[in-house]
This record gives sequence, C-alpha cells and structure tokens, in this order.
Amino acid sequence: MTLQIPSDFELGVATAAWQIEGDLAGRGRSIWDDFAEIPGAIVDGATGDPACDHVHRLEEDLDLLAWLAVDAYRFSFSWPRVMPTGSGPTSPEGLGFYDRLVDGLLERGITPVATLYHWDLPSLLESAGGWPARDTAYRFADYAQVVAERFADRVDRWATLNEPWCSAFLGYCSGTFAPGRSDAGDSLAAIYHLILGHGLAVERLRAAQARNVGIVLNLIPVVADDLSMEPVVRHIDGLQNRIVLDLLAGRGVPADLRESCASVTDWAFVRDEDTPVLSAPIDWLGENYYTIYRVAPVGEADADAIGQETAAIPACPPMRFAPREPLTDMGWEILPSGLESALRMATDALPGVPLWVCENGAAIPEVTDETGIHDQVRTDYVRDHLEVLMRMREKGFDIRGYYVWSLLDNLEWASGWTKKFGIVRVDPATGERTVKDSARWYRSLIAERG
Ligand code: FCB
Repeated sequence: MTLQIPSDFELGVATAAWQIEGDLAGRGRSIWDDFAEIPGAIVDGATGDPACDHVHRLEEDLDLLAWLAVDAYRFSFSWPRVMPTGSGPTSPEGLGFYDRLVDGLLERGITPVATLYHWDLPSLLESAGGWPARDTAYRFADYAQVVAERFADRVDRWATLNEPWCSAFLGYCSGTFAPGRSDAGDSLAAIYHLILGHGLAVERLRAAQARNVGIVLNLIPVVADDLSMEPVVRHIDGLQNRIVLDLLAGRGVPADLRESCASVTDWAFVRDEDTPVLSAPIDWLGENYYTIYRVAPVGEADADAIGQETAAIPACPPMRFAPREPLTDMGWEILPSGLESALRMATDALPGVPLWVCENGAAIPEVTDETGIHDQVRTDYVRDHLEVLMRMREKGFDIRGYYVWSLLDNLEWASGWTKKFGIVRVDPATGERTVKDSARWYRSLIAERG
C-alpha cells in the first residue's frame, strides 16, 4: 500500500440523524417522516423508524467507533428530537440522548463533530412555509443557540448545514426529497434562506462560545465535452456551486444567475442588508464529494443517476446528465480527480479557510460468504480519494481531515434501504451490525498512520 497518511490528518466516519436514529416515539416529526408516508416517495416504503435503531443501540455503535479507533465522529443533531415542534420547548429526553452520545465519544477519545441540520426540518415549520419562508432561518438560529449553549463545551467542531443544495433543490424544485414540493422559484428562496439561517446560526454559535464553526457543502464540478454546452455548464455550476460560495463570500447572488433564473423568480427575497450575515466568517469548510456532473446535449434518454435530474435545476436549459463508467449503485461516475476540482472551488472562493472532506464513500455491490462481507470496490474508492487529498496537501492545500460516508448501512433517503454505503452492514430486519472488509481496512489504515 503506497498510501501514507500523516498523523495530524484526521480520519473519521460520518452519519446523519434521520438515516440512523429511529425512535420516532422519542422525538417530534420531521418532513422526512411525512415524506416517507407518501406512497412511492421512498422506493422500498422504508420509514425513519426504526432505521438503524441507533438510539437504542447507542453503546454498541460507540463501541464500534472505538474499535475502528477513528479520530472523529461526525453526526447530526435531529432538530425535532431537540425541539419537537421546531420552536419553543426543548425535550429533556432528546437533549439527554445527545449528552450520552457526546460524552460516550469523549470517554472513548473520539472527537465529536456535529451538524445542526441534516435535512430533517420539523414538520410544523414546513407547514408554516418551510425554507422558502424567511422565518424558518430565524427558527433555525434559535434552535442552533439551544444546542450550542448545551454542547459548546464538548463538541469540537460545528457545521450549521449539510448540503443546502439538496434541501433546496431536491426538496423544493424536483420534489424527489422531502418535503416533495416542486416550485423552482420557491427552491431559489429556499437556498437563500438556508444560507441566511446558516449565517444567523454562526452568530448564535459564537455567542455561545462554540469553537470551529463552519458549513458542509456538496460542491460538484460540472464538465462537458461539447463546447456548445458552455452556457449550460455555467448555469448548473451557478446553482450547484457559485450561488452558495458567492453568498458565503459576501458577493451576493451571481449576476448571471439573476438573469438565467429570471423566468422563475424576481429574487424579491434577497435583501442587501443580509450580506454581512450571509458572509459571517467561518473557521472551516466541509465538502461532501461523491461524483461530478457530466452534461451533454439532449439526445438519448436521461441517465438514471440519483439526484442528477433536470427537474432539480431551476430554469433548466435543454440538456441531459451523461455520467460515464465506472458507476456506483447510485449511478454516480467514479472520478477521484473531481475531488481536487471541488476543493479548488472552495479555496478560490474562500481563501485561507481550512478544508475537511466530510463525506466520501460508495454504494456498490458486495459479496458475502462464510469469510465475510467483501467490498473491495468501496475500499478502492476510499483509498483513491485519500490519495488525491494527500497529493493536494503536498501542493500546499490546507486539508485537515476526511470522513467516510458512512459508518453504517442506513436509510439512503428516497432510496430507503436499497443503497448501502456502510463500512458496517446493518440488517434492516434485526438491526444486527456486521463489519465489512472495508471497515477492517480503514481500521488498519488508521492504526498504521505515520
Ligand atoms: C449525501 C448526504 C448523505 C448521504 C450521501 C450518500 O448527499 O449528505 O446523507 O445520503 O449523500
């Protein structure tokens, strides 16, 4: 093995609340619980309960993390577990669960890294308008404050949002993710209010003395062979990457997007006085990288890549997604070099901000026999992406750590149990955990670091 990881490079694993926790009885409802009840919304009809039953298997999962000996564990707080109705009273049981999680990590020498919002908006806030409504940003800040006041002493690094692009455009434009609405104009208001909520939350986190405050994005390089696709590339890159980076950098909504989306919104929700809030300085940036977008002129049928849908792109010009082999089970092109392009976008927009890869991994076919669960493609995927990071560090990029998605097979959103990303198998029927080859490999990589 040529891969050499320096000892100061953080290695971890990541999860998200709705995908693993279960225990719906112990929390309020979120948009994902409502979405799961719509027939066909989640392919296999799975719901958020019991998911991986993580709430009831907390000690076992903490022990798995200790066995892996990861430096850090990235998890998300469930807003409706902390505040069942989304605003107002907090749940002592809910907060108590996260006390046990965070303290259990610290007892095992594992750094807690928390995301405040990984897509599970409390249902009552969606009824009040959801992310297209400005008020949701203020409710998010109030929730962030409650969590920060309780956990700032113990959580080492904070992300306000996970992948706001998915919340806004899969949630409110294509409607393939919760809450399942399809209105291009609303989705643009949603992305704006998500970043506003992020900025307001940064202020509250700082006031509560939370350290290392940042955000996790899914920046995706957009490429095309055909030169005629340049305007399309720019439009998609604008919506996927530049709108968020420019808001964070204090530059406002990109001028070209204001024009190219004029048919679906008048941008009336943008307020000049928001700029300092939207661009509140951050201490770090997380990137979740899985694939690139390869776009091509309309022609043959659209590729069947999950999340790569023209319906998720406001004012989408004629085009199709055209990923190339090798593909994962998600239909996503495997291209480790795209990680470098994604991280370069982040550094160009926000120079000096240290980077973490907060998710990377693959849903792939596995072979199970009496000797174990063999998932060599997943191991190769992780190793190849880590190699890209090591080369970038040699070139001087400030990349501090990497988290595999995911510790456990879990509810892959609208794909339910049908797509498995875990380095540990979870049997959906029994909850039983079984370590895969990739987990053993990752464990030895961590143990053998330089
Ligand atoms: C990311 C999500 C994560 C998981 C992976 C496969 O977009 O943040 O929860 O679903 O994709």
